[in-house]
Amino acid sequence: MISILVLNGPNLNMLGKREPHIYGSQTLADITAKLENVAQELGVKIEHKQSNFEGELVETIQQAMGVHDGLVINPAAFTHYSYAIRDAIASTGIPTIEVHISNVHAREEFRQISVIAPIAVGQITGLGADGYEWALRTLVRRLSTAKAQS
Ligand code: DQA
Repeated sequence: MISILVLNGPNLNMLGKREPHIYGSQTLADITAKLENVAQELGVKIEHKQSNFEGELVETIQQAMGVHDGLVINPAAFTHYSYAIRDAIASTGIPTIEVHISNVHAREEFRQISVIAPIAVGQITGLGADGYEWALRTLVRRLSTAKAQS
């Protein structure tokens, strides 16, 4: 069974309370519950983790090697400067989609840079919490096609 790791970075545990005019009113638990339903519909397994610590995110990504087939990640503020997270993703070779709830390109200049995007399959930004669902669906479709062709 295809297995996808869903990783959320710093301050995303504050969703629901955190700047709701930017990030919406859904909590991280609401988002993960919805993703669980989508995973069930698609017949795949997902594992969720949130951390406020860069090193913990790096270790979680390293440990995903050989365990998970795809990664959906919202690296939050680390998106804009964490070469350590970028290198961890690149080392695993796991197909990755970067998600942002807000439209980072319509915000401050520092948010318009992603050091992760160049090594990701793609980036979804500005679609609100739905972005996680589209990332999951796209990854699963790509992984299923790749499996069928191998
Ligand atoms: C975010 C955008 C980042 O710039 C910010 O630091 C976050 C959340 C988003 O989901 O829109 O924490 O990744």
